[in-house]
Amino acid sequence: MAQLINEIIAIGGTTAHRRPFDEHRILDEFIAAKRGICCFVAVDDAQILGFQALEWCDPDWPGEDRLPADWAVIGTYVAPGAHGRGIGRALFLETAKAAKAAGVRFIDATIRKENEGGRAFYAGIGFVDYRTGDESVSKRFAPG
Ligand SMILES: CC(C)(COP(=O)(O)OP(=O)(O)OC[C@H]1O[C@@H](n2cnc3c(N)ncnc32)[C@H](O)[C@@H]1OP(=O)(O)O)[C@@H](O)C(=O)NCCC(=O)NCCS
Repeated sequence: MAQLINEIIAIGGTTAHRRPFDEHRILDEFIAAKRGICCFVAVDDAQILGFQALEWCDPDWPGEDRLPADWAVIGTYVAPGAHGRGIGRALFLETAKAAKAAGVRFIDATIRKENEGGRAFYAGIGFVDYRTGDESVSKRFAPG
């Protein structure tokens, strides 16, 4: 997972993450995240081709764009060589089920405006725009 997200960070422009990950940070931020709900991986034999993580929003977020407590935030990362094969969509089938089971009202996906692929992806799996900032667009999906 670290190798995959580091490849995406190195290409640039599609994730807010800037610092490369090691296995400890992958555990802290995705697999065993403090507010984590689920983290699914897509595998082909022993190779990880993508992962998607969902966590409750941060109730102590200081900005004006703080989300209600029953909202969750999503992140999706698919290996650059494996885009467009339905991996993100397949991951979201599982994430949406887990979100519903956890009682999430809305899933938020906040995407940088220049990340056209990311915006098209979330629109393609059913997210709708609800807020536009200077640098990002926020989309949401109701799993219930
Ligand atoms: C965005 C990302 C997760 C999409 O994953 P993916 O596995 O390639 O997406 P899928 O093949 O499951 O696509 C599902 C649907 O999304 C839409 N879509 C996905 N990528 C698209 C693109 N680049 N352009 C247009 N539509 C796109 C399509 O509607 C597609 O459905 P279709 O194949 O039936 O037409 C992947 O490109 C990625 O990891 N990008 C880098 C990180 C990132 O931007 N993450 C999102 C912000 S957290």
